[in-house]
Amino acid sequence: MEIQLWREILDPYSLAVNELITKFNHIIDEYKHAGAYSPIEQVTGRVKTISSILEKSQKKSIDLRNFEEMIDDIAGIRIICQFVEDIYKVVDIIKNRSDMTVTHEKNYIENAKKSGYRSYHMIVIYAVETLKGKKELQVEIQIRTLAMNFWSTIEHSLAYKYKQNMPEEIRERLSSAAEAILILDREMSVVRDEIMDAQNSFTIKANIVADILTNIQNLYKVANKQEVVRIQDDFFRIYQNGDQNELAEFSHNLDMISARYRAQSLR
Ligand code: GTP
Ligand code: MG
Repeated sequence: MEIQLWREILDPYSLAVNELITKFNHIIDEYKHAGAYSPIEQVTGRVKTISSILEKSQKKSIDLRNFEEMIDDIAGIRIICQFVEDIYKVVDIIKNRSDMTVTHEKNYIENAKKSGYRSYHMIVIYAVETLKGKKELQVEIQIRTLAMNFWSTIEHSLAYKYKQNMPEEIRERLSSAAEAILILDREMSVVRDEIMDAQNSFTIKANIVADILTNIQNLYKVANKQEVVRIQDDFFRIYQNGDQNELAEFSHNLDMISARYRAQSLR
């Protein structure tokens, strides 16, 4: 197949990957803006290279005339979560979306692969708009924890290095590392609530401080300079005290002061 033709076929897949990365990142933003904990920690994606499509087609005796149907991971999205519980939340989010339809699911968390590989895989149908109209594509979404990702990245590079001949000793080490990862994920789940509380209050505080700074910045344009300097000093003092309730109250008062100036300027 000519390179130009490949490009034409693969272009919509890169559009899908870009759109999906944006959409999943937006979910992170929505949680953050609501001051809530996001089950998604990080999103990446890639389009399979031509050479790896050819390699996979050869290995699985796939007719190149229908490789788009037969290879379901031309577009790949990887979602990284902090905790195993988050993975199932993300699975639900994906199932409830109207812009993608799940066709296959594989739970390698409940049923780890022989290698020790763990992850949750979904194949979804996702539509993109091109100059030639709407095109429906298969996208593979892999959802895993930070720890699972750590393991599979290392296993992948070792598997690549040794191809079919991974030494038994390395295989055993990977297997016991997978066991350690499993225990780590369990331990993390036990302290999950505590970690989430800490992260939550961090996000809430960051949001309050951002609001206050925006308000002070706007007041500089309309209010008496001395008053703004006084407000700013108050803010620094309260910020250094580190009491979040006091900070919230200060932010609330500042909102009212700003509203008053806005009302005045409208008069
Ligand atoms: P392929 O699509 O041919 O890989 O096999 P499959 O259709 O049975 O897919 P499966 O869901 O088992 O795996 C798809 C993808 O998951 C792979 O392309 C890898 O990215 C990842 N994967 C699966 N097994 C392993 C493993 O043992 N180690 C690592 N590092 N990744 C794996
Ligand atoms: Mg596959």
